[in-house]
Amino acid sequence: MKILVTGGAGFIGSHLVDALVTRDHEVVVYDAFVEQVHGRKKPDYLNQEATYVKEDVRNREALKKVIRTSDLIFHEASAVGVGQSMYQVSEYVEANTQGTAVLLDILVREKTKVKKVVIASSMSIYGEGRYLCSACGKIAPSPRSEKQLQKGEWEMHCPACNAKVRAIPTDESKPLESTSLYAMTKRHQEEMTLLLGKTYRLPVVALRYFNVYGPRQALSNPYTGVCAIFSSRVKNGKPPLVYEDGLQSRDFVHVEDIVRANLLVMEKKEADYQVFNVGSGKAVSILEIANALIRLYGKALSPQVVGKYRSGDIRHCFADISRISSLGYRPKWSLQEGLQDLVRWGATQKAVDRSEIADRELLKRGLRQP
Ligand SMILES: NC(=O)c1ccc[n+]([C@@H]2O[C@H](COP(=O)([O-])OP(=O)(O)OC[C@H]3O[C@@H](n4cnc5c(N)ncnc54)[C@H](O)[C@@H]3O)[C@@H](O)[C@H]2O)c1
Ligand SMILES: [Zn+2]
Repeated sequence: MKILVTGGAGFIGSHLVDALVTRDHEVVVYDAFVEQVHGRKKPDYLNQEATYVKEDVRNREALKKVIRTSDLIFHEASAVGVGQSMYQVSEYVEANTQGTAVLLDILVREKTKVKKVVIASSMSIYGEGRYLCSACGKIAPSPRSEKQLQKGEWEMHCPACNAKVRAIPTDESKPLESTSLYAMTKRHQEEMTLLLGKTYRLPVVALRYFNVYGPRQALSNPYTGVCAIFSSRVKNGKPPLVYEDGLQSRDFVHVEDIVRANLLVMEKKEADYQVFNVGSGKAVSILEIANALIRLYGKALSPQVVGKYRSGDIRHCFADISRISSLGYRPKWSLQEGLQDLVRWGATQKAVDRSEIADRELLKRGLRQP
């Protein structure tokens, strides 16, 4: 098949491109090579078997040209900075919401032979994950209040009876409650794609990725994932900055498992018109990640637990992966092996640590507690 991968020069997209090329598909990458992600030069990992179009998804004419000849689309292009989205509001809405709107507009209005669209959504659209209250049962609480956070009470309480609650896996039916502009745009992308897909009977699938890590995640981009940001800190001999008390948890999934999920829903008809969590199914604290990376990079450092909160940060969210498991998905990478893989690659890379600049930016805008 002829397959279009938007954002195919990025971290996740490029791994997907490799897998598609290996399976003998003809791959076209459509990517703006955004400087914040790539710096000024093209990444050295680009698969030479693919064709590259350096353009923005908002450019309708250029995008139309590549869509016209495609059989299938993986839409991975997005601006990805959660904190940054809170002050670059129109850029995020334009790149993500409008960019996806342009893609869908072409699919709806032009004659194409596209048979399926798989879109990268995000766990960020949930806001807080699911919890269990021993008195009230399964709950889906709203984010913690400013008042609670100011007191440094980090754990969630039951909104009904105020008891402390325990995080449980988050399933796809948990009500969505974005806590950032980025998350809102990911929700837009997902919902627009599903609605139009269903309406026009064009098979579409949305994958809600949890925290993806692995080789090629831009180490010098302080607005990307926590494993890359911590890697950059540690490689530069600086302690990772850990907000709150470090015991907040996330679900870390290796990029190759994300790729396998994409290939799976590409092939399975049963996946059509659905949304799926893609994670490891396990909760891991941020402090554990910081300590593991320090150890693996072999540095004598300890994480710097800031004890402050950032606006929009949730406490716990990890994936219930039963829906995608029913299609045959099993994450292959354990966290330990996955982080070793990241560090093997990370050790060979140059990384400019810009995390303090990003942190100051949040502080200046009142997006993190002084
Ligand atoms: N990495 C994660 O943990 C994670 C988690 C949930 C969802 N996602 C989603 O996965 C997708 C890929 O993310 P990633 O981690 O590989 O990020 P990335 O920044 O490494 O890759 C994104 C790519 O898209 C390109 N791009 C950005 N805006 C564009 C535009 N307007 N037009 C054309 N190209 C553009 C960038 O140049 C980059 O190559 C994104 O949609 C992201 O929202 C990622
Ligand atoms: Zn309760």
